[in-house]
Amino acid sequence: MKTMLTESYQSYPKVNLPNRQWPSKEITKAPIWCSVDLRDGNQALVNPMNLGKKMELFNLLVEMGFKEIEVGFPSAADVEFKFVRKLIEENLIPEDVTIQVLSQTRDHLIEKTYEAIEGAKRAVVHIYNSTSAAQRRVVFNADRAGITAIAVRGAELSLACANALSDTEVVFQYSPESFTGTELDYALEISEAVLDVWQPTPEKKAIINLPSTVEMSTPNVFADRIEWFCQNLKNRESVIISVHTHNDRGTGVATGELAVLAGADRVEGTLFGNGERTGNMDIVTMALNLFSEGVDPQLDCHDIQKLIDVYERCTEMPVPARHPYAGELVYTAFSGSHQDAIRKGMLALQKPESQFWDVPYLPINPQHVGRTYEAIIRINSQSGKGGVAYVMEQEFGYQLPKKMHPEFAQVVQKISEQTGEEVPTSRIYQSFQEEYLWPKTPFEVKSCRIESESVSEEDSTIKTTVRAKVKIYENLLEIVGEGNGPIDAFCEGIRKSEDTRFQFVSYHEHALGEGSNAQAVAYVQIEVGNLFFFGVGMDSNISLASIKALCSALNRAYKEVQ
Ligand code: KIV
Ligand code: ZN
Repeated sequence: MKTMLTESYQSYPKVNLPNRQWPSKEITKAPIWCSVDLRDGNQALVNPMNLGKKMELFNLLVEMGFKEIEVGFPSAADVEFKFVRKLIEENLIPEDVTIQVLSQTRDHLIEKTYEAIEGAKRAVVHIYNSTSAAQRRVVFNADRAGITAIAVRGAELSLACANALSDTEVVFQYSPESFTGTELDYALEISEAVLDVWQPTPEKKAIINLPSTVEMSTPNVFADRIEWFCQNLKNRESVIISVHTHNDRGTGVATGELAVLAGADRVEGTLFGNGERTGNMDIVTMALNLFSEGVDPQLDCHDIQKLIDVYERCTEMPVPARHPYAGELVYTAFSGSHQDAIRKGMLALQKPESQFWDVPYLPINPQHVGRTYEAIIRINSQSGKGGVAYVMEQEFGYQLPKKMHPEFAQVVQKISEQTGEEVPTSRIYQSFQEEYLWPKTPFEVKSCRIESESVSEEDSTIKTTVRAKVKIYENLLEIVGEGNGPIDAFCEGIRKSEDTRFQFVSYHEHALGEGSNAQAVAYVQIEVGNLFFFGVGMDSNISLASIKALCSALNRAYKEVQ
């Protein structure tokens, strides 16, 4: 059944590139990054940034390690011009950072742009005009030659203005804007016409920036265009090929990445992808994609929350909860099987042979971007047994025996079903105490003496005698029992003095904490009828911990059976 008007659209032209190389290439180093947050990002804001916000964001970009920053469109608005002047006059541009300014290829705008950068040590002057077939036809009503003439005139004026500046080193940049809507041969022709004016050399390169102004194809087609352009460009070694991708089809980052495989040297983008319509390519994502493959991104994202805070304050745009690497929920597993796999992956990391981060469902270590492990597992009604056990171990140090996981998970599950909400880790711990550690009826051990002796000289069997004062309901009784260990002896004593039928099933113990504060934690499982119950006991004395664990299991069994 046909439901959409597909006949309104045509397929995007493909590139005839049978010998394409980019599919077998690999990105082994970070491209030259250029942040366009303060220009392209800013242009797309409901409330464009004031001087204070621009300054705050500029400082963050510098701190992150950007060496090229497009700081504005000085001929477009007073605040844009003033911001560039402020940076220069107050000497706020670090030695190793180059500012970039944008202008359309119109005489008075270019002149104003050069006025803005007077006194800067170094600046990229970025000029552009629209070159697409659609814009030539409907906006400019001009043919290719007419559009090329506009670009060449802009390039000549830019050169003349640069020559008139005595103290500023100018790097020339040209963008055939709407490159994705421009015939490839024409994009090359107009770029070469501009380069003919600038006469770059390998020592003094110019930048040709090929924008996916509107994303119109799959990233592989854009990559083909970049590879074709790089192959056919005259004097390639004198030109830095830059790409500037937008995200209309949701593949802005992929397009940037494939473009780098295809030969691009430089990538323009914004933090978290802010920009016109669906945004620019997200530099944080691309940088962390590189990082996740062991490539130094040359950008510092170790405190991603700081980046988010400054970004949100300056742009008044939120970073969505599922945004790659940054969103509030991206290091959180709700599904039980994911939680279980993460827990196992984390444990496996502790093995000496584990060399690389390889935890299921977590492409990077959250700590590497300043996130904490606590946030990884949240317990809600969808969580499995592994998640609860993980929280108990990671947050509170209790190593619940595997067979106990389902039992305690059910306890937590009930809470989440009652509240309908995620169960905070503190509530998980409280329910552990309520279920296993705090109940004291009917059995509460008040004191206990344990004696062990060898049965005979011939064999090594040890006989243990336990004498314990146990409060059973309101009565304080002395329980005396013998066995081959403290629990065995205590079980015998209990069975003798109370009509209590149960089978001892399993026992686990571990230490909790270190030094003089260390406690022993014991886990005992018993069977009553066909039902199984765990109990937990804690004490500085391991034998007493195990006896308390048995009482905890009995108390739970009594509660259930009565
Ligand atoms: O998206 C675009 O084409 C631009 C140019 C000015 C480079 O922002
Ligand atoms: Zn753009």
